[in-house]
Amino acid sequence: MTASIRHYLQFSDLGAEEYAWLFKRAALIKKKFKAYEKYHPLADRTLAMIFEKASTRTRVSFEAGMYQMGGSVVHLTTGDSQLGRAEPIEDSARVISRMVDLVMIRTFGQDKIEKFAAHSRVPVINGLTNEFHPCQILADIFTFLEHRGLDAAGNPDPAFLRGKVVAWVGDGNNMANTWLQAAELLGFTVHLSTPSGYEVDQAVAGIRSSDSYKVFKDPMDACRGADLVTTDVWTSMGYEAENEARKKAFADWCVDTEMMKVARADALFMHCLPAHRGEEVEAEVIDGPQSVVWDEAENRMHVQKALMEYLLLGRVD
Ligand code: CP
Repeated sequence: MTASIRHYLQFSDLGAEEYAWLFKRAALIKKKFKAYEKYHPLADRTLAMIFEKASTRTRVSFEAGMYQMGGSVVHLTTGDSQLGRAEPIEDSARVISRMVDLVMIRTFGQDKIEKFAAHSRVPVINGLTNEFHPCQILADIFTFLEHRGLDAAGNPDPAFLRGKVVAWVGDGNNMANTWLQAAELLGFTVHLSTPSGYEVDQAVAGIRSSDSYKVFKDPMDACRGADLVTTDVWTSMGYEAENEARKKAFADWCVDTEMMKVARADALFMHCLPAHRGEEVEAEVIDGPQSVVWDEAENRMHVQKALMEYLLLGRVD
């Protein structure tokens, strides 16, 4: 029963050709949503959402998306389930996956979601771990293509990513790791600038080589000529004890108008949100004309609908 299951635990779990399909599919599903066209391919299917960390976007996008596709959701947290009372992950996976068709998990270590997936009868989707945030990068790339990479038929085409430069300014965290996986797979380059001690670890990022990224000490240099400038909070969930030390270390890693000026004139700005204006990004940037953060947030729902459809039904027309 488990032989043909596809999980989405990190960006590299799908291939370039599958992403091309997903982006096209997400555009179609978004069009249907905007036209109030009923589309219920997941009628009678249930998604279990397990949250061990807080969320706004991930919860709303998966929950609304599943309902819009005719399905239903079960919402579980560590506080209101046996997950918080030390039931083994393997047992939770065996039980939950007998009752639902799909599971989305937001948790701490990647090892936890991998263990769950290894014992699950149904596809498991990573809704954020300490190491990766693949659904967010799926939405970010879709958003970039909507703005800068549509083919003649108006479809998002990942071929437009070839040769493009994404500047990552800030923590070498789960978002940075996932950008690196995406760059290796889809043929663009990431300019990384992180404070000393917060660098990306290539082994944790799970990429084969250093060909798809360059490291810059100065964030201005990372942004020079970039097609997209992006960042994240200085302190991700789970690292709150380091907050004060991080505030000092990250003080020069605030995306400001000077950084945007040295990027390409048509460069976009993205942030996965929630944002702290005045810390990792200036208000003038996130609320400015190059920012596409609201499209980026909305697109979480459209790409995840395409992803859930793909994992459960394959390539449908
Ligand atoms: N970007 C993101 O994952 O947002 P939430 O933490 O609100 O889900």
